[in-house]
Amino acid sequence: MSTTVQTALPGGEWSPSSWQSRPAAQQPDYPDPAALRRVLAQLSRLPPLVTSWEIENLKRQLADATRGERFLLQGGDCSESFADCESGAIASKLKILLQMSLVLVQGSKKRIIRLGRFAGQYAKPRSVNTETHDGISLPSYRGDMINHAGFTAEDRRPDPELLLRAYERSALTINFIRSLIEGGFADLRHPEYWDLGFVAGSAHAAEYTRMVETIGESLRFMETLTGGVLADINRVDFFTSHEGLHLAYEQAQTRQVPHRTGWYNLSTHFPWIGDRTRALEGAHIEYFRGIANPIGLKIGPSITPEQLVALAGVLNPQNEPGRLTLIHRFGVDRIERCLPPLVTAINRAGRCVLWCCDPMHGNTETTRSGIKTRRFEKILQELEAACRILQDCGAHLGGVHFELTGDNVTECLGGASGVTEADLTRDYRTALDPRLNYEQSMEMALLLARLLSPRRKP
Ligand code: PEP
Ligand code: CO
Repeated sequence: MSTTVQTALPGGEWSPSSWQSRPAAQQPDYPDPAALRRVLAQLSRLPPLVTSWEIENLKRQLADATRGERFLLQGGDCSESFADCESGAIASKLKILLQMSLVLVQGSKKRIIRLGRFAGQYAKPRSVNTETHDGISLPSYRGDMINHAGFTAEDRRPDPELLLRAYERSALTINFIRSLIEGGFADLRHPEYWDLGFVAGSAHAAEYTRMVETIGESLRFMETLTGGVLADINRVDFFTSHEGLHLAYEQAQTRQVPHRTGWYNLSTHFPWIGDRTRALEGAHIEYFRGIANPIGLKIGPSITPEQLVALAGVLNPQNEPGRLTLIHRFGVDRIERCLPPLVTAINRAGRCVLWCCDPMHGNTETTRSGIKTRRFEKILQELEAACRILQDCGAHLGGVHFELTGDNVTECLGGASGVTEADLTRDYRTALDPRLNYEQSMEMALLLARLLSPRRKP
């Protein structure tokens, strides 16, 4: 299969800028190209946000997940906003992912890879290039790294300075996350970090609290037994990811490092390719094929088995375990039809991939009053279907991808607290896609843990 791919592509040497000779979808049109060049030159001199050994460590962990020995939990905002780059919001994102991962460890009996959609998730693909209100058409909002959400010509003009602001905020975010982890935020001996805050009264709180207490007790027991402190217990790994959409920005972060071959994108551990920018001959695939990071490829209902096998060949020609994660997002109504032929084709081609279910992006709907939302039960049903289909096709569900927040927003419908259509306007904050709130996320983790339990009867 990979030979077909070689001939299908114009081929040629890869370099961090070779994508520039291909059609690049979803790129902003900057009115001042000289200003963009100045910013990119600055960006390419600034120090990296992550290191190649962290990236390689993540790739090894993803390779374990491919063999069924770990499980990937990827989650965060659809799009980060500059305004939310503050301590409370960052800590609550970290907390919800840590708490969910604890629940998943308990349920799946596997180590969990925690991958935040943060510290760089500032650029968004849009289905239309312009937005029109009252007869006025302006360029669409494309994320805080590109333009502003307000509806004036000034707000919507792409501004290259925002690339620097995004880079700095990514650095501030990752710095705070590293400090929190270093300072013991994930230490199970500190139950105050693990409490459920405002969801303490929810239907599933007792189950979770019991889990934290049991783990705390086992830990104290082990420490009594060994007569020492389990020093490494609070040292959890945390990785960052974002959609590698803005190619000039990604290129500016693509570096070679001493003592290693290859090129690394050092702005994040795990960049992914969006469903709208995965054209085989397009610029995004050209850029991604040459970097050494583990990468994600989002796949929606329009992909064919032939295209997927060709993409897997181009993006992972050496078939390196951990390199390629397929993040499928079909929606509960289409997964039964779309997923099986893809899994069969990948298996037949002998391609090593990690299957990760994004149950969010295929289940978006608009209410009668025009609010974009998602239903808790559909999200859960897509996860259940993914788990079953992958198993039936001789593969396994290796990870999940959520849009969520640690805050008490009302953006998705349902869950134990029963968010209704009328509730949606109460605290609807997202500028783009609706996210599971804290309580819905915890509930989803508890239900997913049951789904992944080795004791579960099929
Ligand atoms: C997203 O993850 O926010 C997104 C745009 O997804 P997709 O590329 O799958 O549409
Ligand atoms: Co989204």
